[in-house]
Amino acid sequence: MEPVSYVDVEIQQGIYFLTLNRMEARNALDTKMLAEIEGALDEAEKSQDVKVIVVQGAGGKSFAAGADIKQLQARKPLEALVPGMQGLYQKIENCSKVTIAAVDGYTLGGGCELALACDIRIATKNAKFGLPELNLGIIPGAGGTQRLARVIGKGRALDMILTGKMIDGEEAERIGLVTYYVEREELKEKIEEVASQIMRKGPVAIQLAKHAVHKGYDLDMETALWIEKLSQSIAFGTEDKQEGTTAFIEKRQAEFQNK
Ligand code: CAA
Repeated sequence: MEPVSYVDVEIQQGIYFLTLNRMEARNALDTKMLAEIEGALDEAEKSQDVKVIVVQGAGGKSFAAGADIKQLQARKPLEALVPGMQGLYQKIENCSKVTIAAVDGYTLGGGCELALACDIRIATKNAKFGLPELNLGIIPGAGGTQRLARVIGKGRALDMILTGKMIDGEEAERIGLVTYYVEREELKEKIEEVASQIMRKGPVAIQLAKHAVHKGYDLDMETALWIEKLSQSIAFGTEDKQEGTTAFIEKRQAEFQNK
């Protein structure tokens, strides 16, 4: 018998769809699923055909309902020190491709933190975001205490973490937790629209821009601007920069080669 997989993958015109598929547990993230996500991420990272990675949940009820609480219950203090979920999410943030979280249904705890590790978040009306870890006597431990505050501000992050309340997609868009808010039926179209805009850009510039934002964000301005300058210097040395500027002057669409 084929072992059950908790992650489905599919490439469609440059978009790598990574679908969390453990519907019976509301796509809760156990160690098996986390390992499969990492495997899929490595595959997408290596593939020249992949330009954008979309993370989504199967089943319509959940993006992901957080870490698997049954596994969590057995965990000992020092087990929280391994890279684990936090390390995987760091790897997602550091990925050279653009990552989009397409959020529909429950997006709780480690599920919300997974969405926060992605570059862009799109939510449906049915999305329900929350960090309910304090209900379990623990704290958000996969980047939630840090990324949420950086994305929506310290006051709102503290409110969500300390109350454990859930907010819907509309509210998430209002406070900047997600960039786009759409009806469920419009989600696929929105993903393709955003991804196709990104895919028209050169991969080297995408990677440099993404890292300049992520890495520069927590640094002092002087150092962050220096990272920007060095990144631009690398971009200036690429064939894609010659192609992009020439295409503008020749009034045509640029054909970037990732060089
Ligand atoms: N871990 C393990 N199993 C889970 C789960 C989780 N996080 N979330 C849901 N499930 C399981 C339930 O145990 C249930 O299993 P059984 O059918 O075997 O009983 C099944 O999924 C369906 O769940 P519900 O019956 O509760 O479904 P619902 O639609 O009524 O509610 C829900 C859905 C609101 C998501 C609810 O299941 C829930 O509150 N889940 C827990 C959410 C949570 O606390 N997440 C944080 C986890 S801790 C964390 O993520 C730590 C971190 O920082 C990394």
